[in-house]
Amino acid sequence: MGGGVRVDVLSEAEWAAAVASDLAERVRQQPSLRLCLPTGDTPSPVYEALAAIANRGEVSLAQATVMLLDEYVGLEPEDPARLDGRLCRELIDRIDPAPTFHPVPIDDLQPQAAARRHGDLAAEGLDLTLLGLGGNGHVGLNEPGSNAASPTRVVELTPESQRAAVERYGARRPPTAGITLGLDAILASQEVWLLVTGAGKAEILARALTGPEGADCPASFLRRHPRLRVIADEPAASGLANQR
Ligand code: PGA
Repeated sequence: MGGGVRVDVLSEAEWAAAVASDLAERVRQQPSLRLCLPTGDTPSPVYEALAAIANRGEVSLAQATVMLLDEYVGLEPEDPARLDGRLCRELIDRIDPAPTFHPVPIDDLQPQAAARRHGDLAAEGLDLTLLGLGGNGHVGLNEPGSNAASPTRVVELTPESQRAAVERYGARRPPTAGITLGLDAILASQEVWLLVTGAGKAEILARALTGPEGADCPASFLRRHPRLRVIADEPAASGLANQR
């Protein structure tokens, strides 16, 4: 495992509240934090807990900036699987005052131009990027085949990711493509937190952290980051030896 990797393992019961509490503390330290946030079943409970902390007045995200990690191409703005809509429902619209939010501008621009615009925004600097871990080792929509230099771009979706959009996230039809922050921009973020929960992710997490670095598991490139923090619950960490 790379020298910059810190692995925190928490019980299932405390995981979401602990991540939200650390995130709130990070915002207190740096109110104008520039964050990149994912969507998915992993971060969902973190957002619920963070919104509760903000709504109790214990932190304000008013000066923070949030950019979305990735987005589907080819879904209507109202499609329930749209990632911008999901992050707004789960976090942005639930806190007042809300942070400045930058979705991927796919309704205003052609996909290539939208990807360029989003990449330019990331290049202005990210303080902290949160990531989920795909069952196939993807981070964002950096699917297998991506490497550490992969830029922010339009990507073809694997059949697995297309199916997930429909079956897990309720898309009315399969998305035609995706736009993702590239691994280059993720690795350029000042800090990265990889969030992983559930026994179903144990094998791929062990692969990402202890197997050879390689494009078959894009998350493995995260070990190059000097400040990578993996925050896993006990079931997800069950394939890692001595990580407590
Ligand atoms: P999940 O997705 O959090 O819904 O499991 C993770 C991912 O595919 O990036």
